[in-house]
This record gives sequence, C-alpha cells and structure tokens, in this order.
Amino acid sequence: MIVTVVGTGYVGLVTGLAFAKLGHEVICIDKEESKIDALKRAQAPIFEPGLEELLKEQTTNGNIRFATSMSVPWSSDIAFIAVGTPSLSTGEADLTAVFEVVDELAQMLQRNSIIGTKSTVPVGTAHKIRMRLALLGRQDISVVSVPEFLREGSAIHDTFHPSRLVFGVRDQRSEQVLRELHAGLDAPIVVTENETAEMIKYASNAFLATKISFINEIANICDRVGADVATVSRAMGLDPRIGSSFLRAGLGYGGSCFPKDTKALVNIAGQADYDFLLLKAVVEVNQLQRLRPLSKLREWLGELRGKTVTLLGTAFKPGTDDVRESPALDLAQVLEADGVIVRFCDPVVRSLEGVFGDPIDVIADAYEALTDADAAVLVTEWNEFIELDWAHVADIMASPYIFDGRNVLDPRKMRTCGIVLSNIGMSAASQNLTGANQL
Ligand code: UGA
Repeated sequence: MIVTVVGTGYVGLVTGLAFAKLGHEVICIDKEESKIDALKRAQAPIFEPGLEELLKEQTTNGNIRFATSMSVPWSSDIAFIAVGTPSLSTGEADLTAVFEVVDELAQMLQRNSIIGTKSTVPVGTAHKIRMRLALLGRQDISVVSVPEFLREGSAIHDTFHPSRLVFGVRDQRSEQVLRELHAGLDAPIVVTENETAEMIKYASNAFLATKISFINEIANICDRVGADVATVSRAMGLDPRIGSSFLRAGLGYGGSCFPKDTKALVNIAGQADYDFLLLKAVVEVNQLQRLRPLSKLREWLGELRGKTVTLLGTAFKPGTDDVRESPALDLAQVLEADGVIVRFCDPVVRSLEGVFGDPIDVIADAYEALTDADAAVLVTEWNEFIELDWAHVADIMASPYIFDGRNVLDPRKMRTCGIVLSNIGMSAASQNLTGANQL
C-alpha cells in the first residue's frame, strides 16, 4: 500500500518507518525543512534507541521518502495525521495543526482515500473532520481513528509488538484497509466506532497516570508511618488484578503525553458537563509530587539562597532526550526562585532551550556536575547515574546529600559510601538497613 504520514515527531516518524518495514511504500511529510533535510540524509532528528538504524535501512531500500509538502494529485491509500495536539491554557487539546493538515489533504488526496488520526485527539474529532471534509466537498474521504500506544524510549519495540491495535471506523472498506496495512503485527485488534477509539487512548493514559499518582500518595504516607513503598508496590503488583507496572513511586509523571492527556480528558468531561473528580486529583497530586525534595533540601541545607543543587537528569525519563514536562524543570524553577544555583546534568540532553529564556547548558559528566555541590536530586533514573562511584561522589561534593527522586539507589550501599540519602516513601527501608528490602 501507499501510506502518507504527516508529522515526523516520535509518533509519525516511528509509524512511518514501521509501515515501511512491513513492506508498504511510505511518504513522510513535515513542513520543517531542516527536519526533512536531516531525514533525507538518514539522520534521526530525535534520540530514540534503534531509530537511526531503522531509518538507514528503510531509506537505503527505498521504502520510505521524505518531503516538505505534497504534490497534486497525491496518490495514497491512506494518510495518517501525526502532528502535535498541545494543551491550550484551559487544558483543551489544540487541534489547529490537525485541521490545517485536513485542509491540505482535502485538496491533494485522490478520490475515496482514507484519513486516519494517529495524534491523540479529543473524542468527537473524527466527526469534526468529516464535517470539515463535507464542507470542502470531500465526502468521499473516509475518516478512521487509529490511536498510538508507543512509549518514547521503546517506541520501535512497542510499534512492532503492540499490546493491541485499535481501529475506529465507520465502514468495512476502511477496516479492511487497516487490517491489510497492519498485517504482520501480532496483536489483538479492537474494531469500534471512532468515538470509542478516541476515548480508549485517553482512558488508557489517564489510568496509567492514576496508578502513578496513587502509588505516589501511598509513598508519601509510607514516609510518615514508617512503611516502605518499594516493598508495598512489589507485593501489590503480585496480585494479577493490580499488576506491577506503573507502580514505581517517584517525582511523578512527565513527558509530552500524560500531563497533556490527563488535562485534556478533564476538559472533555467538563465539556460534556461531567466533573472528573478522580482525574483532577491525579493531576494535582502529580504537580505536588515534583516538589517533594524541597522540604528535605531545606532540612539539610537550612537557608537555600546561594547553595548549589545538582539535578541529575533533565529528560522526563531515561532513554529519551525529551524534556517536555520534565519534573526537573518545575523543580529548578522553584529552587531558582529561592536563590539556589541549579546545575543541570544529563547523559543525552545537551542544552535546555526555550525553557527559562536563554538556552542553558546541561553538563554531561555527572562528576563535574556534582563537584562542590551542596546537594543533588536524582530526577531521571539513567543507568549512568545509578552506576556512579558514589564513594567518590561523597568525596567531591561540598556535603553528600542526595535526594533519590526515583527510588533507584540502594540505601545500604549509599550509607556505606558516606552518602546521606533521602527518597520517596522508603525512609523505613533506608533506616532499617538490616531489613529485607529488595530493590
Ligand atoms: C505514554 C504511554 O505509556 C504510552 O502508551 C502512550 O502511547 C504515550 O504516553 C503517548 O500517549 O504518546 P511516554 O510518555 O513515552 O508513554 O512514557 P511512559 O513510559 O509511559 O512514562 C510516562 C511518565 O511516567 C514518565 O515521566 C515516567 O517517569 C513516569 N512513570 C512511569 C512513573 O513515575 N512511575 C511508573 O511506575 C511509570
């Protein structure tokens, strides 16, 4: 099949490459010229494990092409929209880019083509796209909703081994095209109407975010009552009805999806005259969770003004260079407002641009970032940080205070190394060093 993908972010690029690998002819469109130039040279514009290799393989064998615009008439069996849907100040998803693409596709696509949404779009968007197409005289185009569930950092693995495929369709021909397009992927297929497909995506992300905020609340209580959240979480997860994934306590969720999608679903509910109390609390808990290290830093350092604090990790999670909604940014902002000298450190992110005005350099070498620091917060659980020589770290810091915001540092080992450690909900384990805590 001939497949068009508009938008070459994480979702668009990986989706395009996956369809190319499955044997389809793929054309990826993005209006950002520099991005397309890089892609034509088989250079990945984002850091994603395995992406560059797949890009080289598929460009070399000619299954994928890149362009900044479409030419008329555009021959494609299906065109996917994979452009951004950022949050407006109300939390509502901004669909400007989506409808710009719809307008363009309406002019270019041959008769009886299919438009599919890959971007996360509010419930009712497929219906709105149909209305727009009707206004433009293109009722012949079918609209399908094909939400994406890949995670950054494991995007390629997730795309080739999906937990499920969801096809929101209104006609059998579209369903057939989607089935043929995804042939070769071994996953349960849920075929439903567009609205349900759109809701599946939001409900899935909102549920995962709820698990995280739930365990973070349990962690905060653990700290107060002397229980150990790592063990609580492990034991809870052994119940197959609960499951162990997304029960890691820490500084909360970040990234381009959970924060945006949870707020968007609260907004979708509100517009349908429903007050989604649970999800509102999930969002608020997450916001507070990012600032948990502050009270400990104050307890350790007293007056914060003039002190140097190193943030280990600026990416929102390991395996990516994405800093969108990273807890490090909120934490840095509050610390800087308190007069703290903040040092950013990350093995992959090299600079923070457009976050605090002028671009800020991010230090690659953790030892350099920790030298003479008064305290440090581990924000992102990169292996590079977990595997540091912590006895050496204790020597080079002005004072060896480490707040482990991801509960990945072994309290026993840290104490032996001379580190004063705090974490999220594990103070019991940290103090009871003869206990049976298993990290
Ligand atoms: C998330 C979903 O997992 C994907 O299924 C979805 O397709 C994607 O959003 C999207 O909507 O596009 P992603 O944002 O890449 O994927 O990252 P996750 O691995 O889900 O992690 C999200 C955040 O939750 C990270 O900040 C991570 O540190 C945090 N997290 C995750 C926890 O704090 N605790 C956990 O137990 C798990």
